Amino acid sequence: MVEPSSLLFFFTLHLLVTVVISGEFTIVNNCNYTVWPASSTTTSGNATLATTGFILKPGENSTITAPPDWAGRFWGRTLCTTNSISRNFSCVTGDCGSGKVACDGRNGSSPMTIAEFSLDSVKNQDFYDISLVDGYNIPIKVIPLGGSGKCNSTGCPTDLNAVCPTELKVTNNGTVVACHGPCAAFNLQFFCCVGNHSTPNTCEPSVYAQIFKTTCPQAYSYVYDNKTSTFACPATDYHVVFCHVTNNTRLDWL
Ligand SMILES: *[C@@H]1O[C@H](CO)[C@@H](O)[C@H](O)[C@H]1NC(C)=O
Ligand SMILES: *[C@@H]1O[C@H](CO)[C@@H](O)[C@H](O)[C@H]1NC(C)=O
Ligand SMILES: *[C@@H]1O[C@H](CO)[C@@H](O)[C@H](O)[C@H]1NC(C)=O
Ligand SMILES: *[C@@H]1O[C@H](CO)[C@@H](O)[C@H](O)[C@H]1NC(C)=O
Ligand SMILES: *[C@@H]1O[C@H](CO)[C@@H](O)[C@H](O)[C@H]1NC(C)=O
Ligand SMILES: *[C@@H]1O[C@H](CO)[C@@H](O)[C@H](O)[C@H]1NC(C)=O
Ligand SMILES: *[C@@H]1O[C@H](CO)[C@@H](O)[C@H](O)[C@H]1NC(C)=O
Ligand SMILES: *[C@@H]1O[C@H](CO)[C@@H](O)[C@H](O)[C@H]1NC(C)=O
Ligand SMILES: *[C@@H]1O[C@H](CO)[C@@H](O)[C@H](O)[C@H]1NC(C)=O
Ligand SMILES: *[C@@H]1O[C@H](CO)[C@@H](O)[C@H](O)[C@H]1NC(C)=O
Repeated sequence: MVEPSSLLFFFTLHLLVTVVISGEFTIVNNCNYTVWPASSTTTSGNATLATTGFILKPGENSTITAPPDWAGRFWGRTLCTTNSISRNFSCVTGDCGSGKVACDGRNGSSPMTIAEFSLDSVKNQDFYDISLVDGYNIPIKVIPLGGSGKCNSTGCPTDLNAVCPTELKVTNNGTVVACHGPCAAFNLQFFCCVGNHSTPNTCEPSVYAQIFKTTCPQAYSYVYDNKTSTFACPATDYHVVFCHVTNNTRLDWL
């Protein structure tokens, strides 16, 4: 006869194992420059990640375990420095304004490429996307590890800075380091999908959104670009890769 307590123990153990194996993010820096990854949480409550900002030198990676049903975003910060006098930490792209490496719940400032996740271990369905709605700074690819290979990767693994229209370019010391989203650059209802242009029918992709979409077909190029840009996978673990190596463009250019 099986003791009820040992059944309970087995059940608890099973729950623990389930929690541990899903929702693990391995952030990988394949760029030939240093990236300072950051995260912010959109789930209500206390379910923040253990780390909200850290450094990854070229070739390094780091694994973060998300709480069950976590929702939030990852982005990469570039060209970060600590002021030698004030000790204040800041970055040319993706800066979250905390003055230190951890972002402590703050969002980054655009333009930046964003990897968004919404995990659901209860319904056993995760949603994820790469968003260029707030512009672009570095290439990101999201690779789901589960789903028996049926879950699609997504990303904007190409160097969008190289095709960024002049009026959207962000330069630092003569180099293009990021590309504004048109909403932030021009603040017009038509680009931001607000006011008279707040529905899918009245907010058509702009000429800028079309450039983004051509360069990165899997990524969100504007607010209503959800049909081809939202991906789903049974709850699993992910690689989030900066500068994933593909054989077409100058990915390491910055
Ligand atoms: C959130 O944290 C506070 C303080 O640590 C705690 O009292 C509260 O129960 C937590 N809420 C949830 C939903 O975990
Ligand atoms: C992370 O780094 C370790 C140590 O260099 C390496 O063995 C591992 O393959 C890397 N993982 C990924 C996903 O790149
Ligand atoms: C520190 O840097 C942040 C930008 O990351 C800036 O918003 C803030 O004003 C700076 N603080 C000080 C004391 O210089
Ligand atoms: C960060 O941005 C997301 C998306 O716009 C928003 O849902 C969230 O509330 C923001 N977080 C903070 C701390 O402002
Ligand atoms: C996933 O990829 C497969 C094979 O490339 C494709 O047929 C399918 O439409 C994709 N699914 C989504 C949701 O993009
Ligand atoms: C600006 O670029 C020049 C030439 O690439 C380099 O020598 C210089 O160190 C750079 N300055 C800064 C502040 O990055
Ligand atoms: C919105 O549409 C109305 C009706 O066509 C027009 O009167 C108004 O000027 C428009 N507002 C803006 C900001 O374009
Ligand atoms: C895309 O978003 C629109 C408006 O929010 C919604 O009506 C539509 O169902 C969404 N489509 C998909 C495929 O999620
Ligand atoms: C990259 O692509 C070119 C042309 O398509 C091909 O000749 C070359 O072998 C490829 N290199 C790698 C490393 O796959
Ligand atoms: C990164 O790689 C590019 C070419 O892929 C090269 O031009 C650049 O000098 C490299 N940067 C560093 C810091 O090694």
